[in-house]
Amino acid sequence: MCPPLAGRTDLRSDTVTQPSAAMRDAIADAPVGDDVLGDDPTVQMLQERLAAMLGKDAALFVPSGTMANAVSVRTHTTPGDEIVTEGTSHVYVYEGGGYAALSGCSVALVEAERGIMAPTDVAAAIRKSKGSMSHFPDCSLVCIENTSNRGGGTCYPQESIDAICELAHSSGCSVHMDGARLFNAVVATGIDASRMVRDCDSVSICLSKGLGAPVGSLVAGDADFVERAHRWRKLFGGGMRQAGILAAAGLYALEHNIERLAEDHARARTLAEAIDALDGFSVDLDAVQTNMCYIELTGGKTGQEAVAGLAERGVDLLDLGPTMLRAVTHLHVDDVDIEHAIAAFADL
Ligand SMILES: Cc1ncc(COP(=O)(O)O)c(C=O)c1O
Repeated sequence: MCPPLAGRTDLRSDTVTQPSAAMRDAIADAPVGDDVLGDDPTVQMLQERLAAMLGKDAALFVPSGTMANAVSVRTHTTPGDEIVTEGTSHVYVYEGGGYAALSGCSVALVEAERGIMAPTDVAAAIRKSKGSMSHFPDCSLVCIENTSNRGGGTCYPQESIDAICELAHSSGCSVHMDGARLFNAVVATGIDASRMVRDCDSVSICLSKGLGAPVGSLVAGDADFVERAHRWRKLFGGGMRQAGILAAAGLYALEHNIERLAEDHARARTLAEAIDALDGFSVDLDAVQTNMCYIELTGGKTGQEAVAGLAERGVDLLDLGPTMLRAVTHLHVDDVDIEHAIAAFADL
């Protein structure tokens, strides 16, 4: 598939993908209703499909991954509670402090290697009011991000997910999985999605990242959770009317674009190994487990200088720190683009 801008290789994010012709056909053909009134058949089909894939009772379609997380945090917590999450997690770093503004929660951060929290560190971060003379807030939610974006696109070992869920539940906490890229983890580990999230109380997934849909995320959980989440989606302004045109793209994505994520993963690895072998760059190859490649600049260039130099050579990516670049593969990046990117790095 051709990149949207011929001649350029866009590695900024897997969110830049554009709907394919076949996906646009699915959008055009979708029967729609009014989803706020609950009668959009395509939204219902998408929600039921994802809930079945994840082994949950139900799912709710929302406009973005950020809203999926916000609705989930709000549904699991009461203002004054605390949430536990990893120090570089999207919920903490990139969602505008929504846990505080929209849910009235404080946050306890867990330090983790490559974004993957150790169960013992999660247990140590959980604080309870009881037994502290009410000094501590009540932790009521643990968030797990799989794959971990800032961790490098890394995947949780299944034992860690299971252990975190067990520890959290034994402390009276729910577990939310921010699975914006859950299917990257599923494809990379070979673990069935419903097994992976079996013990999580809610799971969000994004359709508009590696899966290639233009808009949309879902949050799944048990029937009671989804019923309560529906109220918070309304309050946050996330109810959409003829949303079936978006859900149709999502259904297409779930059917056609999951298995092919393996191609993105293979290309990210090729890119990472080639860049790591060049002078002036270093890549933590053990962190390259899915479609991301974080590149440390070791030759004196700043991130901004490197991004500008690569852009002049037709390769777009993001600087995510003074000396850190991120490249993300997706369905508009083919083998020729990878060669193009490697040549641009070599020439920089
Ligand atoms: C791990 C993770 N969670 C949530 C989101 C939020 O998704 P959105 O951009 O749709 O709000 C992102 C976006 O990049 C993400 O990487």
